[in-house]
Amino acid sequence: MKDIYILGIESSCDETSASIVKNGSEEIVTIISSQIDIHKDYGGVVPEIASRQHVKNITYVIEECLEKAKMKMEEIDAIAITYGPGLIGSLLIGLEAAKTLSFIYNKPLVPVHHIAGHIYANSLVKPFKFPLLALVVSGGHTEIIEMKKHYSFEKLGGTLDDAIGECYDKVARVIGLEYPGGPKIDKLAQIGKQTYKLPIPLNDNSYNFSFSGLKSAVINLAHNERQKNNEIREADLAASFQNVAISSITKKLRKAIIEKNIKYLIVAGGVAANYGLRNEIDKLTKELNIEYSIPPMIFCTDNAAMIAAAGYYAYLDGRRADLSLNSKSTDILN
Ligand code: KG4
Ligand code: ZN
Repeated sequence: MKDIYILGIESSCDETSASIVKNGSEEIVTIISSQIDIHKDYGGVVPEIASRQHVKNITYVIEECLEKAKMKMEEIDAIAITYGPGLIGSLLIGLEAAKTLSFIYNKPLVPVHHIAGHIYANSLVKPFKFPLLALVVSGGHTEIIEMKKHYSFEKLGGTLDDAIGECYDKVARVIGLEYPGGPKIDKLAQIGKQTYKLPIPLNDNSYNFSFSGLKSAVINLAHNERQKNNEIREADLAASFQNVAISSITKKLRKAIIEKNIKYLIVAGGVAANYGLRNEIDKLTKELNIEYSIPPMIFCTDNAAMIAAAGYYAYLDGRRADLSLNSKSTDILN
């Protein structure tokens, strides 16, 4: 069979990225221009600033990607683009670039849902085995998704309020850590002790999650300690929080794996970079005797390689968009 090269473009939040992936599994080149240094002064992503940065970066990122791959647009089979969910203004920049290239070079435009992208970051690691469960944990999502075949997604459960990454970032802010606080909490948690008592979120029989109560509990605890002039033991608070957050995820995941008789698990999204979560997933899958995959750190957070990989399977599935494709903040993965 002829090799298929997909150019992926991602600009849904604060990373401008382009990547070329061969046959949905072999990453050729990925360029990621991160805006973290710009947004951290504001404690989070400022949508208007993000859009402007994407405008500045997008052409360079795509050009550099083709240059480094020593490829011409003529050699690309299709362009995969994140159409949503994300910041509308940011999404639009990548989308317009993709539409323009598709029009000029007469290449198919393949629409990719951002979460499908995170899931398919794992196809850059090893081939999927079905049926599988995908645990998606990012700044905007916390979901358990079942896949019985390629590019077919069934949501079993998700967060009822905040996403886990969002909760990490807010807890970090309370402790006084810079955005994005997730990785910093993770680091602190490794040297801390679980000495603070925090409530276990949504300890029920569903596959759903809830993080707003846990977030509020940490905020209240920090305020109370400060009012009493007590020192907050940051590492211990990070360890206590991380333990509760992660065990609430692995508890629901364990239930889904057993009830759905799953033998293959994939973990995806920015929070998949979390050391504590990686450890717990490793333990859980060993105990249940199932296989799993987690992308390398660089493909856990937003990148275009995952969009190109997902784009390959969407392309094989016959998914195409025309120039009327618009960005959507929709959460529905299909
Ligand atoms: O997937 P991603 O890049 O963006 C979204 O699609 O949301 O995820 C970003 C999120 C941020 O909330 C960040 O704090 C979190 O992933 N994150 C982590 C770690 N690395 C990134 N959270 C916990 N531990 C980490 N090591
Ligand atoms: Zn993401």
